[in-house]
Amino acid sequence: MTQKLYLYPIWLRIWHAINALMFLTLILTGISLQFSNPEAPLIRFDFAVTYHNIAGVILSINYLIFLLGNLTTGNGKFYKIRLKGLVDQIIKQIKYYMFGTFKGEHTPFPVNKERKFNPLQKVTYIGTMYMLIPIMIITGLALLFPEFIIENVLNLSGIYLTALLHGIVGFLLLMFLAIHVYFSTMGSTPTSNFKSMIDGYHESH
Ligand code: HEM
Repeated sequence: MTQKLYLYPIWLRIWHAINALMFLTLILTGISLQFSNPEAPLIRFDFAVTYHNIAGVILSINYLIFLLGNLTTGNGKFYKIRLKGLVDQIIKQIKYYMFGTFKGEHTPFPVNKERKFNPLQKVTYIGTMYMLIPIMIITGLALLFPEFIIENVLNLSGIYLTALLHGIVGFLLLMFLAIHVYFSTMGSTPTSNFKSMIDGYHESH
């Protein structure tokens, strides 16, 4: 029997849609700015700079919706983590992804009203949303207003180090996105989790 749980309220779905759209814009323009041949850029340099800045500002403001929503609604509880037993739970989930799922076993941490994420999802989402995204926003803002960046750190340019960190974390976030979208296909059907982000209902068998 298919069970449906309303786990993705409208504010979260709007946040997620804007976030995904801005993220893709930032990745495309960011890759063009970082790697393109200046003679034949992927996206015209001035366009790439403008759209990268606009998308970065929108994503940052949108991030406040994520923070506020998780502080003031029940969604925040899904991100609470208990360190006791966490490693064992993560190993169990990895084993399920590596073997169990291919043998048709049931997921070790089924979704319910109290648990939206499995332990691996939880740590990845916490790391992404509460560590990587803030680093990205802070370094991005600093590069937008470079007059506030310390000029020299251990004889290296502060702007260079800030840009380096911005680029490395951008790469890690791109890795997150690839894994995130792949694992999103592992719902009760390959498309059911994507539907959840449209109608708000999680579907499980
Ligand atoms: C094309 C882009 C994207 C697609 C197709 C996508 C897909 C999905 C899907 C299907 C879910 C629901 C399943 C689940 O709860 O895990 C989800 C949730 C989530 N996604 Fe994405 N995503 C995208 C981009 C992103 C980006 C760029 C981020 C952050 C940097 C992100 C962060 C999250 C978070 C934190 C949740 C859980 C939200 C909550 O329920 O509290 N997603 N995404």
